[in-house]
Amino acid sequence: MGAETYPLLRGLHITCVGLSLGLFLLRGWWQWRGSPLRSSAWARLVPHVNDTLLLLAGIGLALMLRQYPFVAPWLTAKLVGLLLHIGLGIAALRNWLPGRLAGMAWCGSVAAFGYVVGVALTRDPWLGAGG
Ligand code: HEM
Repeated sequence: MGAETYPLLRGLHITCVGLSLGLFLLRGWWQWRGSPLRSSAWARLVPHVNDTLLLLAGIGLALMLRQYPFVAPWLTAKLVGLLLHIGLGIAALRNWLPGRLAGMAWCGSVAAFGYVVGVALTRDPWLGAGG
């Protein structure tokens, strides 16, 4: 792989991060408003394609850096944050919970996403706060 592969993959990863957050906020808005758009084919497909790309690019970066979850603490923290984001996101966006709880799950999911970005920027599970 050429020297340009890493920055390209990183660019793809970061682009997908922005799209992922935007799409997640949009789906939360639609859910909150009870918009029929939330169950459109588009809303079902596009976020999942983007999130798969995001994950694959992340795995590619980790392989190129030779840093892995359960070895490098920041990548373990990213994975835990990602699982929280996904779990709380599913709980919020499927019609499982009453409105208030769904709203709380959604806020928690956005917070977990923010945590993952913070860990990515600092490469530190404690976000550079020491510990
Ligand atoms: C919600 C999921 C994710 C978000 C929001 C996210 C966010 C980010 C961001 C914002 C960066 C850029 C950091 C910088 O500019 O230095 C980054 C880099 C990176 N991410 Fe992710 N990421 C996610 C998932 C993953 C996963 C699942 C993996 C791998 C298991 C991964 C591995 C990496 C690696 C290795 C870098 C390289 C950072 C560098 O070159 O300094 N990411 N991530």
